[in-house]
Amino acid sequence: MEKFIDILDKELGNAFESAGYDSALAKVVLSNRPDLCEYQCNGALAGAKKYKKAPIMIAKDVEAILKENDIFKEVEAVAPGFLNLSIDEKVICDYLSGMSGEENLGIQEAKEPQMIMVDYGGPNVAKPLHVGHLRSAVIGESIKRIGRKMGHKVLGDIHLGDWGYQMGLIITEVKIRHPELPYFDAEFTYAYPDEAPFTINELEEIYPTASGKAKEDAQYREEALNATFQLQNGNKGYYALWKHIMNVSVTDLKKNYEKLNVHFDLWMGESDAQKYIPPMVQKMKDDGYAHEDDGALVVDVKEETDTKEIPPCIILKSDGASLYSTTDLATLVQREKDYNPDSITYLADKRQDLHFLQVFRAAKKTKIVPEDTKLTFLGFGTMNGKDGKPFKTRDGGVMRLESLISDIQEEMFKKITENRVIDETEAREIAQVVGIAALKYGDLSNQAAKDYVFDMERFTSFEGNTGPYVLYTIVRIKSILNRYVEGGGNLESVKLMMADSKGQKELMMEVLKYNEVMEQAFVEQAPHKICGFIYDISNNFNKFYHETKILAEEIEEKKESYIALLLLTKRVLESCIDVLGFEAPERM
Ligand code: ARG
Repeated sequence: MEKFIDILDKELGNAFESAGYDSALAKVVLSNRPDLCEYQCNGALAGAKKYKKAPIMIAKDVEAILKENDIFKEVEAVAPGFLNLSIDEKVICDYLSGMSGEENLGIQEAKEPQMIMVDYGGPNVAKPLHVGHLRSAVIGESIKRIGRKMGHKVLGDIHLGDWGYQMGLIITEVKIRHPELPYFDAEFTYAYPDEAPFTINELEEIYPTASGKAKEDAQYREEALNATFQLQNGNKGYYALWKHIMNVSVTDLKKNYEKLNVHFDLWMGESDAQKYIPPMVQKMKDDGYAHEDDGALVVDVKEETDTKEIPPCIILKSDGASLYSTTDLATLVQREKDYNPDSITYLADKRQDLHFLQVFRAAKKTKIVPEDTKLTFLGFGTMNGKDGKPFKTRDGGVMRLESLISDIQEEMFKKITENRVIDETEAREIAQVVGIAALKYGDLSNQAAKDYVFDMERFTSFEGNTGPYVLYTIVRIKSILNRYVEGGGNLESVKLMMADSKGQKELMMEVLKYNEVMEQAFVEQAPHKICGFIYDISNNFNKFYHETKILAEEIEEKKESYIALLLLTKRVLESCIDVLGFEAPERM
């Protein structure tokens, strides 16, 4: 369906033109005086100079024409030159009925679907998943779902950090503890034994221990670096051990992401890019893009328009080792070959912005990626504690994602069972679903680039701009609909009528923004716009609910119309929380 705002723009454009003015002036925006009207157009002010006329004169001319237009209930030109627009109830009703009749609620899906990749999650294998990885997973998952909603083909790739020094550290520590294992035989040739020599718990203890030792002990560090080098250069035993580390970790990661309702299509990682590095480097040299600088191999990426110094992208260090940027470039080689994407969005801490700028420029310059492929870095801010510093556990340690999730679910459980009798198992189930929503909404409702404070009390509250508040609204609607059906009502046959109160009209006017909000969230890669939208709908709905006797309404047609509006509101809310990556329980 055409977006409602576009319909208004078109009508205003025609009116400006008929009155003898440029139609480009006719931009409609939401009213900043919602007490007076719903939309407004400030085009007359913009046109004053061009037509050497007082803006109010232009506005009056357009007003005269719009008065004849059925879309508007009222049009008023007000000083100094605004056009205040109120929409006719019938128009709103027809538009919403149209939405109700569409499976996808009238979204304008892409006519030519794009192949979009989202690189998110980015956990480092064998290190415990911590809250820093929460944002990447939560925002990335939503970006992926919004893209799909708009009709694109979207692939989410976790891009594991699975090839670095942490692997050398673990190998070194395992070797000290279990020198008898076959992986350390110079003659090791066979694939690898089935049983991993450690559990996930042991692995999670091994890594910090090894990392601690390496910091104290130069020789240990030397060995870990050497083990990393050997692994990367084909040591068969180390590679088999690495496979075990991978299997054990990935199983655990899947479990954790599952809890978060985050699902990746591709479980690729830095290790998968390694085989593309040598030919890529060779080509960069042959094509003359890479040159030596202080022993290192680099690609210059600065541009004339830069206002600050952009250092060259380092491809190989002087000792021949590859780096984070090398791996990201080689991953682009692989993605081009396997998926030929139209665009790739990367989610990582915003402090990585220079890295991505260098990688993107190097990728375009060396023609790894065609000029028209869109590469976007979506850098996110830090999740802070109430003290304004990066979120930590009570004793100052790094907060594990798992603990964070269970803490918030526990808090939800407390809130749900407060002052009421409810079956414990049921309350636990509800707390799980609502807890995830509280956590995700708390994150997503902020603009991604901004830091935010993790506030357990606020996130889990049933009031205010929170996940539980939105879910509560959905559950409230579900319960009314259930009672309607139990009373013999038929949801299939209800028909929407024109609003008969201000509150109802306000709710209807909010719901009809659905497809423009979804599109905007897609274009701007901004899930927080969807949060703002469903918060507004929830507020409008709850106001309408308190003002209106819905099931007790005596005129049958009117009651059916309310139910139709509830059904549509519920579908819109559910579609929105689905792209945000959480769901509503049946009861709460
Ligand atoms: N593993 C990285 C980290 O923990 C994030 C990876 C982001 N993606 C990428 N293609 N570089 O910071």
